[in-house]
Amino acid sequence: MKGSIFIILITIGIYSGIFNTSAYLTYSTSVAAGAHLGIEECKFQFAWERWNCPESALQLSTHYKLRSATRETSFVHAISSAGVMYTLARNCSMGDFESCSCDSSRNGHVGGKGWIWGGCSDNVEFAEKISKHFVDALETGHDTRALMNLHNNEAGRLAVKSTMKRTCKCHGVSGSCNIQTCWLQLADFREIGSYLKTKYDQAQKLEMDKNRIRAGNSAESRGAKNEAFGSVPSTNLVFLEDSPDYCTINVSLGLRGTEGRECLQGGKKRSCKKVCLDCGLKIEETRTEVVSSCNCKFLWCCTVKCQQCKQVVTKYYCSRSESFSSNNIRKRNRAPRR
Ligand SMILES: *[C@@H]1O[C@H](CO)[C@@H](O)[C@H](O)[C@H]1NC(C)=O
Ligand SMILES: *[C@@H]1O[C@H](CO)[C@@H](O)[C@H](O)[C@H]1NC(C)=O
Repeated sequence: MKGSIFIILITIGIYSGIFNTSAYLTYSTSVAAGAHLGIEECKFQFAWERWNCPESALQLSTHYKLRSATRETSFVHAISSAGVMYTLARNCSMGDFESCSCDSSRNGHVGGKGWIWGGCSDNVEFAEKISKHFVDALETGHDTRALMNLHNNEAGRLAVKSTMKRTCKCHGVSGSCNIQTCWLQLADFREIGSYLKTKYDQAQKLEMDKNRIRAGNSAESRGAKNEAFGSVPSTNLVFLEDSPDYCTINVSLGLRGTEGRECLQGGKKRSCKKVCLDCGLKIEETRTEVVSSCNCKFLWCCTVKCQQCKQVVTKYYCSRSESFSSNNIRKRNRAPRR
């Protein structure tokens, strides 16, 4: 998967002729690392959802005809694009590229009451420009889906910008802090992931005038598209199609369904109802005995003596049948809770 995104990006970069070869090589590994960061975050954010960011969802541009345009597609585009911009900005601040460094354009200027700009602000302008070239180049079409993807790519980049934080350092006599220097720093990528997850929850479905769209590449259809996209703030995610329920296997859509998936019971992230029960599956509880070292004592001199402790680890899975195969020591089925 990591490889496939990388290859797509390489191919596009070379054929689009945006970069000369050396500039291209300078950024390509960072772009690939950034796309990977985005996808890992997608998997984290959706780990306990029915749709859990499967590899099949990650073909950003291949299989042109099969491309979906669901709410989930919108998230994949936004988080990948954010990951690429994020990594490039970090690279700049770390001095990884000759062509950029920290953004010090405002240094020395008064920023607000009691503080001036100083230090190393992450260079998001540069990162935005380069990531836009690489990621938006994947959209070669001019259809509504391409416009949707471009919109969501942009929303991803804006998420990186709008989660940035002002960080300050105190100056003045013996820590009096009567003057501070401040810079803008990227948030943790996890925070950007959570921010975009909220945007995903609030994503807007574009109801396009189908007749006008179908009119083809005419001025009429372009007008309809511009109207539809123009009405959505750039920070919001947009999609065109309703999602399948993700419960059942659908080979042609590359969906595995939720049978056999692990879920969580109890706690904040409880997911078994949503992932198993609402899909007509049962919740299977498995208990596995795990033996590990514990109560280790340091004995003078020089050994460590441990006991072997047994611990029962309980996990839950979505299951269709009563006999879910597993190496568990005890199992039972839970009746669906109402
Ligand atoms: C940019 O950062 C990424 C992630 O930390 C790293 O893998 C990559 O090698 C960096 N690029 C350069 C040119 O150092
Ligand atoms: C898979 O999805 C396609 C497209 O939504 C649909 O036409 C088809 O009926 C689905 N197949 C199954 C087995 O559900």
